[in-house]
Amino acid sequence: MDEITVDVKNLSKQYGNFKAVDSISFAVKKGEIFGLLGPNGAGKTTLISMLTTLIKPTSGHASVLGKDIIKGALEVRKSIGVITEKVTMYPPLTAEENLMFFGRLYGIEKNELQKRIDEGLEEFQLSQFKNRPVGTFSLGMKRRLDLVRVLLNEPKVFFLDEPTVGLDPITVSFIKKKIRDINERGSTIILTTHIMQDADELSDRVALIDHGHLMACDTPKNLKKKLGKNATLENVFIHYAGEELRDKTEKMSLAPRRGM
Ligand SMILES: Nc1ncnc2c1ncn2[C@@H]1O[C@H](COP(=O)(O)OP(=O)(O)OP(=O)(O)O)[C@@H](O)[C@H]1O
Ligand SMILES: [Mg+2]
Repeated sequence: MDEITVDVKNLSKQYGNFKAVDSISFAVKKGEIFGLLGPNGAGKTTLISMLTTLIKPTSGHASVLGKDIIKGALEVRKSIGVITEKVTMYPPLTAEENLMFFGRLYGIEKNELQKRIDEGLEEFQLSQFKNRPVGTFSLGMKRRLDLVRVLLNEPKVFFLDEPTVGLDPITVSFIKKKIRDINERGSTIILTTHIMQDADELSDRVALIDHGHLMACDTPKNLKKKLGKNATLENVFIHYAGEELRDKTEKMSLAPRRGM
């Protein structure tokens, strides 16, 4: 039987009367690249925030590598790598200083840390910029550096929330290749993206989420096949999510942001 890395059971997150995530269940197998897709406001980031222990669920359960996201939050945090849209680096510090800071935070021994930093900067083609303040970096460089940071800790599970948003096609292609490399080295990856082609190319399976509900969960191939011969993942997306814009949902959720 396949080993389950991320197990989600009836997970919900409610803000006032608004259900951002509504009783979602699915399981991600060890070694999978699992894509979370859905319109703006569908609940993808809320789901990832719960799984990465940043916010607490209203109800339901989930575990990552067998550890409960509430009772085992500390252990979960130690074993995962998280990339969000916001790059978590200190702008005045250089690339290397930032990596040193985070590496020490992760508890990595100094010589080993220096080795991993050098290798990471090399792999992500950032060695020549290591002494520059991160505040002077382009978005593409910041994203690459953020991946170096996350990899320092050698996590077994990665959560990547829109890792390619706002990047040029060359950087997107580079990052997609790295995501595959990281996966081939044995890590399980959960990612969100609005680029259906990227989701199709990268994901072993995808989950389609809309209005906090899980609408479908399967391989891109099977989902497309169900719709017809030449269907694309974009067709699948619109089939499940419809064509209505989501401004209404956005307005409903103007309640003050809590718990973040
Ligand atoms: N702290 C909060 N308080 C109130 N509502 C919230 C809070 N956080 C998120 N929401 C609402 O929950 C819904 C889901 O938001 P979420 O950020 O998870 O969507 P998403 O699928 O990641 O969207 P996008 O693709 O635009 O990133 C949205 O309607 C959002 O406004
Ligand atoms: Mg989001």
